[in-house]
Amino acid sequence: MSVMRRLFATKSLDELVAGTQEEGHQLKKVLGPWNLIALGVGAIIGAGIFATIGTAAAGDAHRPGAGPALMISFILTAVVCGFTALCYAEFASMVPVSGSAYTYSYATLGELVAWIIGWDLMIEYAIGNVAVAISWANYMNTLLEGFGIVLPGWLTVDYGTAMSKMPQVVAAAPHLFGIPIIFNVLAVGIVTLITIVLVWGIRESASFNFWMVAIKLVVLAFFVFVSFKYVKPAHWHPFAPNGFSGIATGAAIVFFAYIGFDAVSTTAEEAKNPKRDMPIGIIGSLILCTIIYAIIAAVFTGMIPYGDLVKKLSSEQAEPLTLAMKYATMPNWMVGVVAFGSVVAHTAVLLVFQLGQPRIFFAMSRDGLLPPFFARVHPKFGTPHVATIITGVFVGVAALFSSLDAMVDLTNIGTLFAFLLVCIGIIILRVKDPHRERSFRVPGGTWFLPVLGGLSCIFLAKYLPKESWYRFGIWLLVGMVVYLSYGFRHSRLKNRGRGQGPQGGMVTHDFNPEQQLPERDVE
Ligand code: ALA
Repeated sequence: MSVMRRLFATKSLDELVAGTQEEGHQLKKVLGPWNLIALGVGAIIGAGIFATIGTAAAGDAHRPGAGPALMISFILTAVVCGFTALCYAEFASMVPVSGSAYTYSYATLGELVAWIIGWDLMIEYAIGNVAVAISWANYMNTLLEGFGIVLPGWLTVDYGTAMSKMPQVVAAAPHLFGIPIIFNVLAVGIVTLITIVLVWGIRESASFNFWMVAIKLVVLAFFVFVSFKYVKPAHWHPFAPNGFSGIATGAAIVFFAYIGFDAVSTTAEEAKNPKRDMPIGIIGSLILCTIIYAIIAAVFTGMIPYGDLVKKLSSEQAEPLTLAMKYATMPNWMVGVVAFGSVVAHTAVLLVFQLGQPRIFFAMSRDGLLPPFFARVHPKFGTPHVATIITGVFVGVAALFSSLDAMVDLTNIGTLFAFLLVCIGIIILRVKDPHRERSFRVPGGTWFLPVLGGLSCIFLAKYLPKESWYRFGIWLLVGMVVYLSYGFRHSRLKNRGRGQGPQGGMVTHDFNPEQQLPERDVE
């Protein structure tokens, strides 16, 4: 094969789908519209609403905040996500393997793009989890303080944040060769704990998801209920202190709060009636979360005036909901309930993302794009322990030293890029393979909504800081080096003519590595 043909070689959709039809590999079609909406809400609500809204409303030294118009930011982002969500639904209905953008793109855009997406999804999952771990630590700290346990500041924050806005923490930190020792011990603690649990073996289950969704919704409802009487409509003026640019910047930041709806598409194989229920599940969960988010944004910005929020966040870490409650001098126990619920909600998101990342490593390794040890399965626990531990070490180390905002921005840009490629993939497939059965189609023809989806992702990404663009560029470059030095040579697709059959590259929802691993990859 010529190099160009190699780079754009695609896996056949039929091969992927055939893999799901095999005896013993069929998933039960049990999910109805409400299950799908609940799944979406479970994956979506997490650190975004508990953490990113502070910076989105107040801005920071380099970008304008949305102010009370934060509620408009949430609606704007929901519209952007809606376009992409429809594209995900079409893909999921057409490639009804329990897949991710990685699988879809291998089937449509070729190996190179699939690699880029797989590499990029590490940002969505692993870097996203760094952000969630940091936010978890912030709320855990608030909770501990409520019990009178006060950790030294230099153990609860990253170096950059402390240096830029917490001189008192820097002064109190121990110094080594004149350099202050500052790191986020709680964030690394929770990542370690979750990694141990995942190596041991835990599976997503419907009842676990149900309880997590229930806790998230109850704690957010509690926040709205108890905070409502502290809302002063006067705080909503001026409504948009930084005009449209503040609203759009806020929208780009709170994009983080919506990440996760794409997870609904991974259950296409298990939906009773995917044609009708996939869009209901995806769009339904988006609408529900948008309503919840807009209400929280209204209450939050009504509790604390824009000016005071800007001042507070310039010298503190953001755990915005409890910060607003403390500002309104609400009773400690109420602050404690929200901090506790938030810690639980964060833990659920951490688990799901930390479970998802090794699956992507696993699929890429099975396709030969990453070394086989990423797909090793623990002989006793039956879990992909090597990929799980590598993920844990990566996330844990990054969580020790990174700032929440930088990680949120990087996650957003990486995920927006993946969404863009999914929108492009839909167009390519409509042109290349127009007659393939699609149980759900993006309405409005081949171009209209997918193009709007792609453009709106670029629009949001434009409002993310330059540093995150640079970081993202470097990440992609490193990815290219890894691909050219390993994946390009070891790809199973390339080697299929040399006696190795293609392996189904799906990322399955109900993860059972032993069942799917090629024997030679199992230790
Ligand atoms: N949407 C997820 C969260 O907000 C990533 O935590």
